[in-house]
Amino acid sequence: MTDESLDAHDDALVSNPSPGTPIGALIETRLSRRGALLGALVAGLAPAAALAEAAHSTGNPPDAGPSTLQFPELRHQLNPRDAVAEGHRIQTLLRWGDPVLAGAPAFDPTAQTPEAQALQFGYNNDFLDFRPLPRGSRSSTHGLLAVNHEYTTAAMMFPGLGPLRQARERVSDVQLRVEMAAHGGSVVEIRREGERWVPAVDSKYNRRITAHTPMRISGPAAGHARMRTSADPAGERVLGMLNNCAGGNTPWGTVLTCEENFNNYFGGEAATTGAQAAAYKRYGIGPDPFYAWRRVEARFDLDQEPNEPNRFGWVVEYDPYDPEAMPVKRTALGRLKHEGCTHAIGKDGRVVFYMGDDERFEYVYKFVTARSWNPADPAANRDLLDAGTLYVARFDADGTLTWLPLVQGEGPLTSENGFASQGDVVIECRRAANLLGATPMDRPEDVEVNPATGRVYAMLTNNGSRAATQTNPANPRPSNTQGHVIEIIPPGAGTREVDHAATEARWEIFLLAGRPGIDAGTRYHRATSGEGWLSCPDNCAFDSKGRIWIATDGADDAAGIADGLYAADTLGKGRALTRLFYQAPLGAEVCGPCFTPDDGTLFLSIQHPGEGSSFDKPSTRWPDFDAGKPPRPSVIAITRIGGGAVG
Ligand code: FEO
Ligand code: CA
Ligand code: CA
Ligand code: CA
Repeated sequence: MTDESLDAHDDALVSNPSPGTPIGALIETRLSRRGALLGALVAGLAPAAALAEAAHSTGNPPDAGPSTLQFPELRHQLNPRDAVAEGHRIQTLLRWGDPVLAGAPAFDPTAQTPEAQALQFGYNNDFLDFRPLPRGSRSSTHGLLAVNHEYTTAAMMFPGLGPLRQARERVSDVQLRVEMAAHGGSVVEIRREGERWVPAVDSKYNRRITAHTPMRISGPAAGHARMRTSADPAGERVLGMLNNCAGGNTPWGTVLTCEENFNNYFGGEAATTGAQAAAYKRYGIGPDPFYAWRRVEARFDLDQEPNEPNRFGWVVEYDPYDPEAMPVKRTALGRLKHEGCTHAIGKDGRVVFYMGDDERFEYVYKFVTARSWNPADPAANRDLLDAGTLYVARFDADGTLTWLPLVQGEGPLTSENGFASQGDVVIECRRAANLLGATPMDRPEDVEVNPATGRVYAMLTNNGSRAATQTNPANPRPSNTQGHVIEIIPPGAGTREVDHAATEARWEIFLLAGRPGIDAGTRYHRATSGEGWLSCPDNCAFDSKGRIWIATDGADDAAGIADGLYAADTLGKGRALTRLFYQAPLGAEVCGPCFTPDDGTLFLSIQHPGEGSSFDKPSTRWPDFDAGKPPRPSVIAITRIGGGAVG
């Protein structure tokens, strides 16, 4: 996304008032040899021997061993069309406006209505999860695709509005309601028939979730005084979910979908003068939001409903197999600008959920359930996400990571500091994390577990605002416009008994993105090619061999290349040797990478194609290339020609 201060996605926002060196790093005076080498690398002063030593000590092999990935690498290019490595095929599976529910009219971009949109595939698809059918099976040919619809851009959706800022002023009330119906999520039954995937319109499983879908609020913030509104005096029900970016799933088969930049929808004078002004500010809520929704719905007006924004910014759980089941906002997992929420099972059966708060200088979190999950009794897991411990990460210079508990009554999280209950802690999770001295990161996006090794990978997409005085060992570059990837190594990683629930872990830097030899302080495998380097890592996935697939968002702005999908080994001779597999069309980011259990299909979300242009003068008409159609955010399916595993 562009670095505009008033943007649908807010990528340049800083809300953390204390983004300097965390308390932990100040206390930690023992500067390890590795830390010293890292500093030298960052300063661009490292001699060759130090580079080799640094690479060795972080697990990178000193030799340029080959990748286990066999596909011929793509070349970097900017193009209205997308491309995939030779030997693979791209199929457009679901486009904005495609029918999802019975009775959906054909997509007519010149006469879109809220009613039509609520039956059709929403805008800006992001997170994807393939849930096999039948439930509990390992099918790779039949299942449900759960999809997030993160946000809308009127300039690209409606004719005659002009570019971004102009469109924001001109968008009609009806169009605002179309936007509300284009948010949320979709569940679509899909089946592989020969070489192609076919969506089932009218499936009993298909579902649309919008900004108006009723949801239950559960956990420590349910019923809290600050969750109550005139429409919901009990503070237990809310309409819709907003800006759902990435997500995850649970061992018991439900989908987790995460509210990210919810601040963009709420505005009013109270943002600066109201009783909750300080709390609004900590989440980036201001008087004049990007979306004009409060023009048509009073609940988005802070002056009328000061508590409504407290009901957004949560992890939402829903059952994709039951379209009637009410989604639940699980407040125990904290209120922040959630990117995703991905799980690992601890060695004692408790379930651990890793999460990033995607804003400059925000934090990495995890939640550990109080109880173990029960594979034999699905009903016993139903409310597992309501009780457990939320932690925030402090990365120290000696390579240790400490998970700090966000528990009311412990440490500084007391009534004196405004935390009288756990509800207060989760509602103002960011302020609580500040008091604990968590490490301010370079925009934590996906945090995902490699099932083959138990190591955990955090995508830190970029942070152009970090000053040289604000670097820390885990975020070593000032003005980090290209981002990096951190590896968290829990105790027991690499064995069958990985202790994801432990309160300590080790950490390493997996790669520092950007143009090798041009951008300061980049780090990859030394054999990474002129095409294999990347910029702005956002989402990631692992194939069944434990190789990482990294999707990028923002490379066009940061490095002048298209966003794409890159694959690399995580261990062995090809560690961090990234290779370009898929290149997005102009303006688009790649998100939601998701493999079928057999690795035979890779689903990708291609979001905001043509971004920065407009409906009437689009920079691409991907994927239809039809003069009557604007570019359409779409889900694609990539398969290997002739069959077999992708990559
Ligand atoms: Fe919506 Fe964090 O990207
Ligand atoms: Ca996105
Ligand atoms: Ca993202
Ligand atoms: Ca992003």
